[in-house]
Amino acid sequence: MKTARVMSVFGTRPEAIKMAPLVRELQSRPGVESLCCVTAQHRQMLDAVLGAFDLRPDFDLDIMEPRQSLYTITAKALLGMERVLEEARPDLVLVHGDTSTTFAGALAAFYAKIPVGHVEAGLRTYDRYSPFPEEMNRTLTGDLAVLHFCPTPANRDNLAREGIDRGVYLTGNTVIDALRTTVREDFVFATPLLNRLDYAHRRVILVTCHRRENYGAPMDHIMAALRRLAQDCPEAELVYPVHLSPVVQEAAHSHLDGVENIHLIEPLDVLEMHNLMARAYLVMTDSGGLQEEAPALGKPVLVLRRETERPEAVAAGTVRLAGTEEERIYALGRELLEDRAAYDKMARAVNPYGDGRACGRIADAVEYHLGLREEPPEPWLA
Ligand code: UD1
Ligand code: UDP
Repeated sequence: MKTARVMSVFGTRPEAIKMAPLVRELQSRPGVESLCCVTAQHRQMLDAVLGAFDLRPDFDLDIMEPRQSLYTITAKALLGMERVLEEARPDLVLVHGDTSTTFAGALAAFYAKIPVGHVEAGLRTYDRYSPFPEEMNRTLTGDLAVLHFCPTPANRDNLAREGIDRGVYLTGNTVIDALRTTVREDFVFATPLLNRLDYAHRRVILVTCHRRENYGAPMDHIMAALRRLAQDCPEAELVYPVHLSPVVQEAAHSHLDGVENIHLIEPLDVLEMHNLMARAYLVMTDSGGLQEEAPALGKPVLVLRRETERPEAVAAGTVRLAGTEEERIYALGRELLEDRAAYDKMARAVNPYGDGRACGRIADAVEYHLGLREEPPEPWLA
């Protein structure tokens, strides 16, 4: 039987969460030899995901440094990939999303003349500095890739406008596949606080914030709004698993320490995170992944950014752009805590990002491209 070698490359927490179900799917295909290379742009936060999904990478570049710069991530990943690609000689490299690992992985494969498949392709804000550097990472990766796996029709249309219309597949987002395996009604948390919280009678607000373009003044404004919200709304419990970036740790602790109903905790493993989200009242975040997960779980989201490359859930009414100004974030937060009608309007489960079967479609397209399958996959009918 004909076989082909496919290498999945990723390095950060969100890439790992969204690539894990695809790696599993590829492993189940008899014609595919699935290899996994991690840059470890994130160390602890990546290892937590690898553990949760029981994934063992074949190659680990171990590049993370404290307060790493965009230059060091990109250079170390690119150099590390040179050696890995020489040794493994894959027939196809898969990268995910918009991190510096994504771009360096795609560029390294291009230099080795190995075709690249881009998972989560076509997301755009068309502002090159926001999100920074992600908008440029994903645009450049789109130019390097020959296969483009678009979560939504809008993502596919973005690529078409840029002249990319070959090798494009509409698949849904793999994060919805992941979500299907993680959320359980009888889930027991390892973090004691999360078992203790009274989800029925308290307003549990799940918070995350980490984007580079929010460093400095925007993050200060966000934190100030969160503090006021917690102090003025005693029925709220803010649970904020703080990203390990020292910049974020300093901002969160300096603004939010010492408030009784704000819980600054360690990053959660993905199982705890998804199950906490499923029980929370509201999500306030600048994360990309949370904007996709929360709508599928029927949770309103206030996005702590000026723009989003994920307009689908905004159009569906589950997500609102809150921006990064203190007053507006505070006002929107209070509205959702106090105005039941406003809350109910947003708290509807919608699935604009996928049906949970993205990985099967991507694996089919990969096999089709590699000559292991006669027919391309049916696109997702969003
Ligand atoms: C990166 C991605 C961003 C993505 C985010 C997901 C880039 C440029 N940025 O941003 O697109 O949204 O991951 O979380 O690719 N750290 C640890 N342990 C960890 C992880 C991080 O200590 O497990 C600390 C290190 O000091 C590191 C710093 O966090 O230098 C920043 O990590 P980095 O990957 O550079 O940036 P993120 O903000 O995580
Ligand atoms: N996540 C997690 N633990 C946390 C915070 C986030 O498992 O403490 C998960 C979250 O559910 C989502 C992904 O990590 O699947 C999002 O990662 P992040 O916000 O770091 O990056 P982004 O999506 O913004 O690139």
